Amino acid sequence: MGLSQRLRVAVVISGRGSNLTALHTAADAQGYEIVGVVSNQAHAAGLLYARSQALPQTVVDHQSYATRTLFDEALARALDRYEPDIIALAGFLRVLGTAFVHRYAGRLINIHPSLLPAFPGLNTHARALQAGATEHGATVHFVTDALDGGPIIEQARLRVYPNETPEQLAARVLVLEHALYPQVLGRLARGQIAIPL
Ligand code: GRF
Repeated sequence: MGLSQRLRVAVVISGRGSNLTALHTAADAQGYEIVGVVSNQAHAAGLLYARSQALPQTVVDHQSYATRTLFDEALARALDRYEPDIIALAGFLRVLGTAFVHRYAGRLINIHPSLLPAFPGLNTHARALQAGATEHGATVHFVTDALDGGPIIEQARLRVYPNETPEQLAARVLVLEHALYPQVLGRLARGQIAIPL
Protein backbone atom coordinates (compact mmCIF):
# COMPACT_ATOMS: atom_id res chain seq x y z
CA MET A 1 0.00 0.00 0.00
CA GLY A 2 1.40 3.42 -0.94
CA LEU A 3 1.93 6.19 1.56
CA SER A 4 -1.04 8.15 0.26
CA GLN A 5 -3.38 5.26 1.06
CA ARG A 6 -2.55 5.08 4.72
CA LEU A 7 -5.39 5.72 7.13
CA ARG A 8 -5.41 9.45 7.95
CA VAL A 9 -5.69 10.04 11.69
CA ALA A 10 -6.21 13.41 13.39
CA VAL A 11 -5.47 13.45 17.13
CA VAL A 12 -7.28 15.75 19.57
CA ILE A 13 -5.57 16.54 22.87
CA SER A 14 -5.80 18.80 25.91
CA GLY A 15 -2.56 18.14 27.77
CA ARG A 16 0.48 15.97 28.19
CA GLY A 17 0.11 14.07 24.93
CA SER A 18 1.75 10.80 25.88
CA ASN A 19 -0.87 8.88 23.90
CA LEU A 20 -0.24 11.20 20.94
CA THR A 21 3.45 10.32 21.18
CA ALA A 22 2.67 6.61 21.33
CA LEU A 23 0.29 6.88 18.37
CA HIS A 24 2.81 8.79 16.29
CA THR A 25 5.72 6.51 17.19
CA ALA A 26 3.83 3.41 16.03
CA ALA A 27 2.18 4.98 12.97
CA ASP A 28 4.49 3.59 10.27
CA ALA A 29 4.52 0.10 11.75
CA GLN A 30 0.72 0.05 12.08
CA GLY A 31 -0.02 1.53 8.67
CA TYR A 32 -1.62 4.85 9.52
CA GLU A 33 -0.52 8.45 9.43
CA ILE A 34 -0.99 11.31 11.93
CA VAL A 35 -2.14 14.09 9.63
CA GLY A 36 -2.79 16.73 12.28
CA VAL A 37 -3.06 17.50 15.97
CA VAL A 38 -5.70 19.78 17.47
CA SER A 39 -5.61 21.04 21.06
CA ASN A 40 -8.10 23.13 22.99
CA GLN A 41 -5.23 24.23 25.24
CA ALA A 42 -2.57 26.50 23.71
CA HIS A 43 -0.02 25.34 26.27
CA ALA A 44 -0.61 21.61 26.03
CA ALA A 45 2.70 19.79 26.34
CA GLY A 46 1.58 17.51 23.52
CA LEU A 47 1.85 20.43 21.11
CA LEU A 48 5.57 20.66 21.86
CA TYR A 49 5.91 17.05 20.80
CA ALA A 50 3.85 17.72 17.66
CA ARG A 51 6.10 20.66 16.84
CA SER A 52 9.24 18.60 17.40
CA GLN A 53 7.94 16.05 14.90
CA ALA A 54 6.74 18.67 12.41
CA LEU A 55 3.16 17.44 12.76
CA PRO A 56 0.61 20.02 11.57
CA GLN A 57 -1.19 21.47 14.56
CA THR A 58 -4.05 23.81 15.40
CA VAL A 59 -5.18 25.33 18.69
CA VAL A 60 -8.93 25.78 19.08
CA ASP A 61 -9.25 27.43 22.49
CA HIS A 62 -12.68 26.68 23.95
CA GLN A 63 -12.49 29.94 25.92
CA SER A 64 -12.69 31.89 22.66
CA TYR A 65 -16.19 30.57 21.92
CA ALA A 66 -19.37 31.69 23.64
CA THR A 67 -21.10 28.33 23.42
CA ARG A 68 -20.16 24.70 23.17
CA THR A 69 -21.82 24.52 19.76
CA LEU A 70 -19.60 27.32 18.43
CA PHE A 71 -16.53 25.62 19.87
CA ASP A 72 -17.55 22.27 18.36
CA GLU A 73 -18.03 23.91 14.97
CA ALA A 74 -14.60 25.53 15.12
CA LEU A 75 -13.08 22.20 16.16
CA ALA A 76 -14.79 20.48 13.23
CA ARG A 77 -13.47 23.11 10.79
CA ALA A 78 -9.94 22.66 12.14
CA LEU A 79 -10.20 18.87 11.87
CA ASP A 80 -11.74 18.87 8.40
CA ARG A 81 -8.76 20.79 7.04
CA TYR A 82 -6.67 17.68 7.76
CA GLU A 83 -9.15 15.46 5.88
CA PRO A 84 -8.97 12.69 8.49
CA ASP A 85 -10.46 9.24 8.08
CA ILE A 86 -10.41 8.83 11.86
CA ILE A 87 -10.42 11.32 14.72
CA ALA A 88 -8.68 9.96 17.80
CA LEU A 89 -9.38 11.72 21.09
CA ALA A 90 -6.32 11.32 23.32
CA GLY A 91 -6.63 13.00 26.68
CA PHE A 92 -9.15 15.51 25.33
CA LEU A 93 -10.95 16.96 28.32
CA ARG A 94 -14.05 18.54 26.77
CA VAL A 95 -17.42 16.93 26.25
CA LEU A 96 -18.49 17.09 22.59
CA GLY A 97 -22.02 17.99 21.58
CA THR A 98 -24.50 15.78 19.74
CA ALA A 99 -24.07 17.50 16.37
CA PHE A 100 -20.30 16.99 16.45
CA VAL A 101 -20.59 13.37 17.53
CA HIS A 102 -23.15 12.61 14.80
CA ARG A 103 -21.12 14.39 12.14
CA TYR A 104 -18.20 12.01 12.78
CA ALA A 105 -20.20 8.92 13.71
CA GLY A 106 -18.09 5.81 13.20
CA ARG A 107 -14.94 7.88 12.70
CA LEU A 108 -14.55 9.27 16.21
CA ILE A 109 -12.76 7.19 18.85
CA ASN A 110 -11.50 7.76 22.38
CA ILE A 111 -9.23 6.12 24.92
CA HIS A 112 -10.54 5.96 28.45
CA PRO A 113 -8.53 4.84 31.49
CA SER A 114 -10.85 2.19 32.88
CA LEU A 115 -12.49 -1.04 31.86
CA LEU A 116 -15.72 0.50 30.60
CA PRO A 117 -18.59 0.34 31.38
CA ALA A 118 -16.93 0.54 34.83
CA PHE A 119 -15.83 4.01 35.90
CA PRO A 120 -16.84 6.42 33.15
CA GLY A 121 -15.86 10.05 33.78
CA LEU A 122 -12.88 11.38 35.74
CA ASN A 123 -10.61 10.08 38.52
CA THR A 124 -10.99 6.53 37.34
CA HIS A 125 -7.96 5.11 39.13
CA ALA A 126 -8.86 6.44 42.58
CA ARG A 127 -12.44 5.30 42.08
CA ALA A 128 -11.37 1.81 41.01
CA LEU A 129 -9.21 1.48 44.13
CA GLN A 130 -11.95 2.83 46.33
CA ALA A 131 -14.39 0.33 44.91
CA GLY A 132 -11.96 -2.50 45.62
CA ALA A 133 -11.64 -3.45 41.96
CA THR A 134 -9.23 -6.32 41.43
CA GLU A 135 -8.95 -5.66 37.71
CA HIS A 136 -8.52 -2.34 35.95
CA GLY A 137 -7.31 -1.12 32.59
CA ALA A 138 -8.07 0.95 29.54
CA THR A 139 -10.71 0.99 26.82
CA VAL A 140 -10.76 2.30 23.26
CA HIS A 141 -14.31 2.96 22.12
CA PHE A 142 -16.33 4.73 19.47
CA VAL A 143 -17.69 8.04 20.71
CA THR A 144 -21.46 8.47 20.86
CA ASP A 145 -23.78 10.79 22.75
CA ALA A 146 -23.42 8.70 25.88
CA LEU A 147 -20.43 9.93 27.91
CA ASP A 148 -17.76 7.19 27.72
CA GLY A 149 -20.59 4.91 26.62
CA GLY A 150 -20.04 4.20 22.91
CA PRO A 151 -19.34 0.73 21.47
CA ILE A 152 -16.15 -0.77 22.87
CA ILE A 153 -13.46 -1.63 20.33
CA GLU A 154 -10.77 -3.13 22.55
CA GLN A 155 -9.60 -3.24 26.15
CA ALA A 156 -6.33 -3.90 27.93
CA ARG A 157 -6.43 -5.09 31.52
CA LEU A 158 -4.22 -5.56 34.53
CA ARG A 159 -4.52 -6.88 38.05
CA VAL A 160 -4.71 -4.26 40.78
CA TYR A 161 -2.00 -4.66 43.46
CA PRO A 162 -2.89 -4.51 47.13
CA ASN A 163 -2.03 -1.09 48.62
CA GLU A 164 -1.39 0.46 45.23
CA THR A 165 -1.79 4.25 45.04
CA PRO A 166 -3.92 5.92 42.33
CA GLU A 167 -0.71 7.36 40.88
CA GLN A 168 0.97 3.96 40.66
CA LEU A 169 -2.11 2.45 39.10
CA ALA A 170 -2.42 5.34 36.62
CA ALA A 171 1.20 4.87 35.55
CA ARG A 172 0.70 1.15 34.94
CA VAL A 173 -2.54 1.72 33.01
CA LEU A 174 -0.81 4.38 30.90
CA VAL A 175 1.71 1.79 29.72
CA LEU A 176 -1.22 -0.35 28.57
CA GLU A 177 -2.83 2.64 26.84
CA HIS A 178 0.34 3.33 24.86
CA ALA A 179 0.27 -0.19 23.44
CA LEU A 180 -3.51 -0.46 23.04
CA TYR A 181 -4.29 2.74 21.14
CA PRO A 182 -1.79 2.23 18.26
CA GLN A 183 -2.93 -1.40 17.96
CA VAL A 184 -6.53 -0.31 17.52
CA LEU A 185 -5.55 2.28 14.90
CA GLY A 186 -3.60 -0.45 13.12
CA ARG A 187 -6.65 -2.70 13.08
CA LEU A 188 -8.75 0.18 11.75
CA ALA A 189 -6.11 0.85 9.08
CA ARG A 190 -6.28 -2.79 8.00
CA GLY A 191 -10.07 -2.75 7.88
CA GLN A 192 -10.33 -5.26 10.72
CA ILE A 193 -12.85 -3.33 12.78
CA ALA A 194 -16.50 -3.15 11.77
CA ILE A 195 -18.00 0.31 12.15
CA PRO A 196 -21.06 -0.27 14.36
CA LEU A 197 -22.88 3.01 13.82
C1 GRF B 1 -4.95 9.15 29.52
O1 GRF B 1 -4.96 8.38 30.68
C2 GRF B 1 -6.24 8.96 28.76
O2 GRF B 1 -6.74 7.67 28.84
C3 GRF B 1 -7.16 9.91 29.48
O3 GRF B 1 -6.35 11.02 29.77
C4 GRF B 1 -4.98 10.63 29.83
C5 GRF B 1 -4.27 11.44 28.81
O4 GRF B 1 -2.87 11.31 28.88
N1 GRF B 1 -8.34 10.15 28.69
P1 GRF B 1 -1.97 11.87 27.69
O5 GRF B 1 -2.34 13.34 27.47
O6 GRF B 1 -2.21 11.05 26.46
O7 GRF B 1 -0.56 11.74 28.22
